[in-house]
Amino acid sequence: MTRVLVLNGPNLSRLGSREPDVYGSTSYDELAALLVEEGAAIGLEVEVRQTDDEAELVSWIHEAADGSIPVVLNPAAFTHYSYALRDAIAQRTAPLVEVHLSNPAAREEFRHTSVVAAVASGTIAGFGTGSYRLALRAIAEGVLR
Ligand code: DQA
Repeated sequence: MTRVLVLNGPNLSRLGSREPDVYGSTSYDELAALLVEEGAAIGLEVEVRQTDDEAELVSWIHEAADGSIPVVLNPAAFTHYSYALRDAIAQRTAPLVEVHLSNPAAREEFRHTSVVAAVASGTIAGFGTGSYRLALRAIAEGVLR
C-alpha cells in the first residue's frame, strides 16, 4: 500500500462546528475516518494529521519530502500568506495536492491568493470533503507529478 499523509492546517480540527454553512457538518474525526477507509479501498495507507502550528506543519512537509511520501494538504489560512510553507513544499519529492473544502476564489478577496499553489501538483477546491477524496484518487491513479 502506498503511504499518504493528509495534512490539515489551523482551525480544521473544528470542522463540524466551525461555520457549517461554509465548511459542512462533517466533523474532523469523521473526515479522518472516511479518508482512512476510502484510501484503503483504493490501495492507500492514509494518515491524517492536523495542527494549528505553522512550524509543525512545515516539519511534516519536510518529513514527506525526506520519505518521498505523497501529501494531500489543506493549508487553511496559511494558504494565503505562509511563504515558509511554500518554501517547504517546493522541496517535495512526491506529489502534493492542495485541497480546500470551500472555493476560496468565490470568497473574500484575501482568499483569492494561494502562495502554495504554484509549488503543488495541483489544487482541488469547492467540493467539501469531496476535495480530499478526489485528491486521494488522483494520487492512487499515479497521474500526478
Ligand atoms: C480553507 C479555505 C481557507 O481560506 C480558510 O482559511 C480555511 C479553510 C478550506 O478548506 O476551504 O481555514 O482552506
